Amino acid sequence: MHFRVTPGKVHDATIAVPGDKSISHRALMLGSIAEGQTRVSGFLNGEDCLATLAAMESMGVGIDRIDDTSVVVHGVGRNGLQEPGQDLDMGNSGTAMRLMAGLLAGQAFDSRLVGDASLTGRPMGRIIKPLSRMGATIGSDDGCPPLTIKGAGALQGIHYAMPVASAQVKSAVLLAGLYADGETSVAEPAVTRDHTERMLESMGVEVRKQDGRITVEGGQSLTACDIAVPADLSSAAFVILAALLGDDCNIVIESVGVNPTRTGVLDILQTMGANITLENKRMMAAEPVADIRVKSSQLQGRDVDPALVSLAIDEFPVLFVAAAAASGATTFSGIGELRVKESDRIAAMAAGLQALGIEVDETPDGAVVRGGALRGGEVESYGDHRIAMALAVAGSAANGPVRVRNVAAVDTSFPGFADLVASMGLKIEGES
Ligand code: S3P
Repeated sequence: MHFRVTPGKVHDATIAVPGDKSISHRALMLGSIAEGQTRVSGFLNGEDCLATLAAMESMGVGIDRIDDTSVVVHGVGRNGLQEPGQDLDMGNSGTAMRLMAGLLAGQAFDSRLVGDASLTGRPMGRIIKPLSRMGATIGSDDGCPPLTIKGAGALQGIHYAMPVASAQVKSAVLLAGLYADGETSVAEPAVTRDHTERMLESMGVEVRKQDGRITVEGGQSLTACDIAVPADLSSAAFVILAALLGDDCNIVIESVGVNPTRTGVLDILQTMGANITLENKRMMAAEPVADIRVKSSQLQGRDVDPALVSLAIDEFPVLFVAAAAASGATTFSGIGELRVKESDRIAAMAAGLQALGIEVDETPDGAVVRGGALRGGEVESYGDHRIAMALAVAGSAANGPVRVRNVAAVDTSFPGFADLVASMGLKIEGES
């Protein structure tokens, strides 16, 4: 499946994008080990979250699909998961695999986590190391999936200083910490998304936060609660970009999660001159949300502040396209983590933008993008959903047709992306 994009601009619109991926995964996992029924609305019906859903079901958790975006998780309690009769297939999802490994490390039964070709190449040493220190036994293929997790007696709490800023690692260790003796704490080198901590607290778990260290005491039970999932800012980012590159357009994206651990993309775009405002700010369960208004803007190149990287970690493909459309050069540094996402996102974006006529110089942990005129051409997504969507929006601003190859993975995070942006005026068609 490929996208064919011809020049086009979005028009004024008020739209909604699908639910937050990070929060949807956590609602399924934490709801499963809670006591009682967790009603989830705004659930992301994307392939990544459906992999988590299937894994929880195969460990004996009853999950009712009320409609596409509403599920009810019948929690089995902290010690109620059952041995799965098969491998747990996490598909394309690093979040699903790493958080699940934390959850499984404390179970009494053996399990095996597998994934697709992209996930099978991603580093798991970052969770194997702390979980092993807690007493878990995890086999891997030289630090990569599949992961075989041996049923543990009891885990021991640890105090762990994470070498990389990663919400997935933090969450894996905290989930294992619920099954460990004593206290488990994680210190972050930079603030990362805190959805796990917020949801644990909503479910009655005491989570202490002090000086960049997050601590849980083992043995605590979770109590089910209703979870309204906000729209995913990481998906909204593609629509924000399309609006910024438009001609005098004004769009509103409704009820988007604006947790301050996620809004780095807005800060960076605003420093580049983007006209973005947050309206109707409110809380949706434990998460802040707002309606995001975006007006087309002329962007200027900037040196992007490395302190914002962990707060915008998934939005760099969007920011590379913003840099390509800006006047002057934009420098990205401290983004080496992008090389171990669903693809090497620095290399993928550099190749994609270069094929569309933009000058990009890669560095080991960043890139310099010189803004210019985007032209038509053929680009590769490397099977990465965010590269595919970023290059599709870039294509809409090019002066000729753009073909984005291998875009099926868009369904992992943003089902309906092409139809939604087409309804807003972009000229995008799927091709087999
Ligand atoms: C996520 C954390 C981030 C992010 C990913 C989702 C999460 O990964 O890139 O898309 O839900 O915890 P890292 O923790 O590897 O940075």
